Amino acid sequence: MIYFALLCAFCNCVAYAIPVSKNEKFTDITIIGTQNDLFPFFGGSAPYFSYPMNSGVSVEAPDKCSMKQIQLFARHGERYPTNSTAQLIKSTYGKLKNAHLNSTGSLSFINDDYCFFLEDPTQFEELTTLKNVIDPIDPYSGQQDAQRHAREFMYHYGDLLENTTTLPIFTSNSKRVHDTALYFGQALSNKLNISMQVISEEASSGANTLTPYNSCKDYNETEHAAIYAKFPKDYLSGISRRLLLENPGLNLTTSDVTNMFSWCAYEIDTRGYSPMCEIFTREELVYYSYNLDLISYYGEGAGNSLSADVGSVPFNSSIELLKQSEYLDNKVWLSFTHDTNLINYLTAIGLFDDGLKLPADHIPFRQSSYHRSWMVPLGARIYTQLYQCGNESYVRYVVNDAVIPLEQCSTGPGLSCKLSDFLDYAEKQLQKTNFLQDCKVEQSSNQTELTFYWDYQKMHYNAPLFLSEPH
Ligand SMILES: *[C@@H]1O[C@H](CO)[C@@H](O)[C@H](O)[C@H]1NC(C)=O
Ligand SMILES: *[C@@H]1O[C@H](CO)[C@@H](O)[C@H](O)[C@H]1NC(C)=O
Ligand SMILES: *[C@@H]1O[C@H](CO)[C@@H](O)[C@H](O)[C@H]1NC(C)=O
Ligand SMILES: *[C@@H]1O[C@H](CO)[C@@H](O)[C@H](O)[C@H]1NC(C)=O
Ligand SMILES: *[C@@H]1O[C@H](CO)[C@@H](O)[C@H](O)[C@H]1NC(C)=O
Ligand SMILES: *[C@@H]1O[C@H](CO)[C@@H](O)[C@H](O)[C@H]1NC(C)=O
Ligand SMILES: *[C@@H]1O[C@H](CO)[C@@H](O)[C@H](O)[C@H]1NC(C)=O
Ligand SMILES: *[C@@H]1O[C@H](CO)[C@@H](O)[C@H](O)[C@H]1NC(C)=O
Ligand SMILES: *[C@@H]1O[C@H](CO)[C@@H](O)[C@H](O)[C@H]1NC(C)=O
Repeated sequence: MIYFALLCAFCNCVAYAIPVSKNEKFTDITIIGTQNDLFPFFGGSAPYFSYPMNSGVSVEAPDKCSMKQIQLFARHGERYPTNSTAQLIKSTYGKLKNAHLNSTGSLSFINDDYCFFLEDPTQFEELTTLKNVIDPIDPYSGQQDAQRHAREFMYHYGDLLENTTTLPIFTSNSKRVHDTALYFGQALSNKLNISMQVISEEASSGANTLTPYNSCKDYNETEHAAIYAKFPKDYLSGISRRLLLENPGLNLTTSDVTNMFSWCAYEIDTRGYSPMCEIFTREELVYYSYNLDLISYYGEGAGNSLSADVGSVPFNSSIELLKQSEYLDNKVWLSFTHDTNLINYLTAIGLFDDGLKLPADHIPFRQSSYHRSWMVPLGARIYTQLYQCGNESYVRYVVNDAVIPLEQCSTGPGLSCKLSDFLDYAEKQLQKTNFLQDCKVEQSSNQTELTFYWDYQKMHYNAPLFLSEPH
């Protein structure tokens, strides 16, 4: 006990060596990996997992078809919480540490030789790596996720790189996004030169960015806060009441309880498991998860009035790349950014929009296909595949390892959409949007088109990296 208290104090819990003597830390080995079934409940804060509802159709090009182009639009990998979330978790930790917790209750782990995972503020906002994780055997670091993803990429799409010597990788200039892209690029192949194209997140980038909502003047994530505020919070007060029964005098607010959910998710990212996760029942996780879906749907998904406008920027470029596939030397287009940008993009495509507004008074168990954590877990990856079968070309989406057919167009081989039909569909989707006008882009920037896929060789994008959100 004392030994561990000292160890914690001296190294701030960060990356201690794998213990060689018999002690409690060996228990990590038996616990890590046992919480994977919780990942879908955290709205995208827990480690990567594959899309759970899979038709079973292979992600390989179907028989007698050959892959012609692949586009990737990816989220950064597993990370430490942002500074603001870390501060909230720390405040709740402080409350628990100072409370006289029941030594046999569900929070009693705090009394034991527990090493808090947010002692080192220099790691907040950072990707988790082999160097900064709390437990060296944490299998969920953002670094390893990106490296594994790159090897899988080579397995599926490596043939498209046969004539490539220098491969551009497009990334926003957020450090964790950049680091994910870099680990991914380095793990692809030592026969490739990777050319990092670092695109600024600033509003002045206008449309020429991977983060167009920053240039959207009227984009308001909380425009429908009044709707999702109505979602019953009984599940939070229920948890707080249960913990009070166990620990007389423990006065936790519903915000504390919300912080404990984030604690659970981010501790898994950084340590590989979290004792905090064990205090929640499955029912409570279901309520929490839907609460996050609701906030996301109205804040960044189809429920937001400008989400599709913003997402039309990458969607339009993706369509241009498909149209020009035959003429472009590069067959592989890799882009890395944040969760919200992926959701805006999916909204513009219309991939997970069943046209029904999410209700705030109950959970729509039977109808909704909007699950934030299924769409954008840490390390999320949206692929656009273009393949040719005979003399015809086809397009389809693969989201987090699962083929996700377009509801309106899926009769091609492998549940794909014939390219010409897809272009008609895309045109209709884009006609519903007007990024420049609806977002008043010209008030903040003179960049009215996304050009970096076409002019990177001339421009050499290298915006300076930043750690925390610029806004
Ligand atoms: C982190 O958040 C705290 C509290 O909100 C603030 O005082 C501090 O300046 C922030 N640190 C950074 C590096 O942004
Ligand atoms: C401590 O928690 C256990 C398990 O919830 C409970 O049975 C016991 O009554 C609690 N003790 C006190 C002093 O509250
Ligand atoms: C590579 O170049 C050869 C020779 O021009 C060509 O036949 C082949 O299709 C190219 N591969 C790709 C993936 O473009
Ligand atoms: C990488 O780029 C350098 C400089 O342009 C070039 O000399 C080298 O041949 C390239 N490597 C590969 C594997 O193409
Ligand atoms: C966003 O919308 C909400 C709800 O209408 C409003 O209260 C808030 O002021 C808006 N925020 C901005 C920055 O306009
Ligand atoms: C619990 O906390 C609230 C708000 O922090 C405070 O108003 C209340 O007096 C506290 N109750 C007890 C029993 O400490
Ligand atoms: C779509 O992309 C093309 C090619 O980059 C561009 O010329 C066009 O202006 C874009 N359209 C919209 C609506 O952004
Ligand atoms: C494509 O191939 C089919 C059958 O193989 C043929 O009927 C059709 O005319 C061809 N279309 C074009 C545009 O070449
Ligand atoms: C666009 O704005 C940038 C920076 O504000 C400026 O340097 C550039 O000259 C402008 N370009 C045009 C075509 O006006």
